[in-house]
Amino acid sequence: MAKVSFIGLGTMGWPMASHLAKAGHTVTVFNRTASKAQKWAAENGGSAAATPCDAAVDSDFVFTCVGNDDDLRQVTTGPDGAFYGMKKDAVLVDHTTVSATVVRELYAEAKKRELNFLDAPVSGGQAGAEKGSLTLMAGGDEEIFRRTEPVMQAYATTLQFMGPSGSGQLTKMVNQICIAGIVESLSEALAFGLAAKLDMQKVLAAIAGGAAGSWQMANRSQTMIEDKFDFGFAVDWMRKDFGICMDEAKRLGVSLPVCALVDQLYAEVQKMGLGRQDTSTLIKRLRRN
Ligand SMILES: NC(=O)c1ccc[n+]([C@@H]2O[C@H](COP(=O)([O-])OP(=O)(O)OC[C@H]3O[C@@H](n4cnc5c(N)ncnc54)[C@H](OP(=O)(O)O)[C@@H]3O)[C@@H](O)[C@H]2O)c1
Repeated sequence: MAKVSFIGLGTMGWPMASHLAKAGHTVTVFNRTASKAQKWAAENGGSAAATPCDAAVDSDFVFTCVGNDDDLRQVTTGPDGAFYGMKKDAVLVDHTTVSATVVRELYAEAKKRELNFLDAPVSGGQAGAEKGSLTLMAGGDEEIFRRTEPVMQAYATTLQFMGPSGSGQLTKMVNQICIAGIVESLSEALAFGLAAKLDMQKVLAAIAGGAAGSWQMANRSQTMIEDKFDFGFAVDWMRKDFGICMDEAKRLGVSLPVCALVDQLYAEVQKMGLGRQDTSTLIKRLRRN
C-alpha cells in the first residue's frame, strides 16, 4: 500500500480519493475550500492538509483533479504548490482536463526537479468516479505509468498509456469532440418527441438499442425528460474543454464546425444561469417550460 495525496475534492476528486482510501492507501487530501477536506477526512479516515505542498510531503503519488490550466499551475508550481513538497522520484498524476501545453510544461518542470509527471484525464463522469469504473488515458513516461497503474486501478477500470507527455490530454480532446454533437442531437430529438406528445418511455425503449443509441441516451435521456440537471459534468467545464479543443485544432490546421456551433449553444445556456448544471441541460434552450 502506498502513501498518496489527493488535491481537489470536487464532483470527481472526492469519490476518486475515497476509492484510494478504501483500497487501503494512506491518503492525505487538500481542498481549496478547507471545510470539504475536513469532511472528507472525517468520513474516509485520511488526513487533511492546509496546502498542496503540505499534502504532498512524503507521498509516493500525488493526484490532482482541479478545474482548468490556471488552477493546475496554482496547485503544482504556484505558491505552496505540490511540487515544493514532493520527495525525489515521487509521481504527480493530473486528472484535470487541461491543455496539452500546460501538461508538457509541468512534465518538463517535474524533470528539472527530479520528479515525475503524468497527464491522465478521465472519462466516465460522476457515475464512473463513484463506481470506480473510470476510463483513464495517460501521457508521459511509460515506466512511470506502469508504476502508478496499480494505484489508479482503485478508481479506473480502463487504463490506456497513450504516449509522450500531452498524449493523454490529446486523447481526451478526441473524446470531447465526439460528444459535442451527440448531446445537441439528443436534446433536439427529445424536445421534438415531447412536442409531438409521444410516450417518450416507449420511444426510448424502441430506439435505444439501435443506431440512435449512445452513452448520452442511456445515461441522460431519463433525467432530461424529468428536467433534472443538478449533477454530473458542468456546462462551464464543457466550454473550457471546447476552448482547449479549438485552440489545439487551430494549431493542427483541423476544422471543428460542430464543436464551434455547440460551444455557442452552451454560451446561451450559461446566459440562462445554468453553467454549473450538467451538459444535458442543453435541452433547456429548446424546451423552456
Ligand atoms: N464532472 C465530470 O463528469 C467530469 C468528467 C471528466 C472530467 N472532468 C474534469 O475534471 C475536472 C474536475 O471536474 P469536477 O466536475 O470534479 O469539478 P468541480 O466539482 O468543480 O471540482 C473542482 C475542484 O477543484 C478545486 N479547485 C478549482 N480551482 C482550484 C484552484 N485554483 N486551487 C485549488 N483548488 C481548486 C475545487 O475546490 P473548491 O471545492 O474550493 O471549489 C474543487 O475541489 C475538470 O477539469 C473537469 O473538466 C469532469
